[in-house]
Amino acid sequence: MERTQIVGTGSYAPSRVLTNQDLERLVDTTDAWIRERTGIEERRQAAPDESTSDMAVQAARPALAMAGIQPEDLDLIVVGTVTPDMPMPSCAAFVQAKLGARRAFAFDVAAACSGSLYALSVADQFVRTGQARRALVIGAELFSRSLDWSDRNTCVLFGDGAGALVLAPVSDTDDSGPPRGILSTHLRTDGAHAEILTIPGGGSRMPMTEEVLHERLNTVHMNGREVFKFAVRALVDSTHEALAAHGLEPGQVDHVIAHQANLRILEAVLARLEIPREKCWLNLHKYGNTSSASLPISLDEALRAGRLKRGDIIVMMAIGAGMTWGSAVVRW
Ligand code: UT7
Repeated sequence: MERTQIVGTGSYAPSRVLTNQDLERLVDTTDAWIRERTGIEERRQAAPDESTSDMAVQAARPALAMAGIQPEDLDLIVVGTVTPDMPMPSCAAFVQAKLGARRAFAFDVAAACSGSLYALSVADQFVRTGQARRALVIGAELFSRSLDWSDRNTCVLFGDGAGALVLAPVSDTDDSGPPRGILSTHLRTDGAHAEILTIPGGGSRMPMTEEVLHERLNTVHMNGREVFKFAVRALVDSTHEALAAHGLEPGQVDHVIAHQANLRILEAVLARLEIPREKCWLNLHKYGNTSSASLPISLDEALRAGRLKRGDIIVMMAIGAGMTWGSAVVRW
């Protein structure tokens, strides 16, 4: 049987650093509050002339280099984003053109902070069926332009960035030992909770008007406490489900690669799963919540730090607006 392997990773964070101290000058907050409640110390902000697709391309190039392939070798590009360059066309179309991936078809997946996990799952299906041999999965998000910089509930949380994964097929007969690659992905949605995390204005329901702009309804609105509670429950459940599908116990997990929204969410999830915190790659102290970018950035950093060894069991997990969430199991 053929399955999908991750053969390249890359990430990009804009150079401009916005510290908690910088935010103390913008809104009624403190460095201590942000650190204690979220674990975030600083985040990155895209340059004024930088777009989501620019960041995506910056993450894609090192991923392609690691995979040893050229952009023309790509059959498919899937970008997980809810902050595309513009509503139409897709961010993926711009990425395809900027990379010169002339053979690839390209589209976006909108699942907010679960975007890269959803994109990974979609691309995995194309690779396993043979419809794509080389796929590029990107999570890229530029939330700094969709935040209300006078709302301390949200503006301290998010950062800009992008991460990329290159996928290729691997046959079980290529390898001795247990099957490697993406063993499975488990995606979930519950739209009944959509209202707890939205950008309410600027779409078909509430088109952009002067009032929408004045009320800042074109920015992120969130009931943080509800998202927090939902996130812990959902991530624990989907991770149990994903591991059980392979007869695995949490104790057999070597690495957790998780969407980085809040350190307390991750600590609560890891405690309930009884997975030691050291097994989870953490970087939200330096990037904040980069939404769909955070999972591929984390995988790239863990890999380049030499943490991932052949045969290791990795569980991935993400949660975002929708609500969307899910888990994946990968044998490296
Ligand atoms: O990727 C998914 C996207 N989002 C998330 O994952 C967010 C999930 N939720 C969270 O991370 C947390 O709920 C937050 C970090 C957003 C908030 O932490 P919390 O411990 O749930 O605080 P809270 O919302 O219950 O607010 C506690 C207090 C409130 O004041 P009062 O009403 O008790 O007087 C807030 O107004 O903290 C206040 N507060 C702040 N204070 C200083 C909220 N934001 C800030 C701030 N600085 N930045």
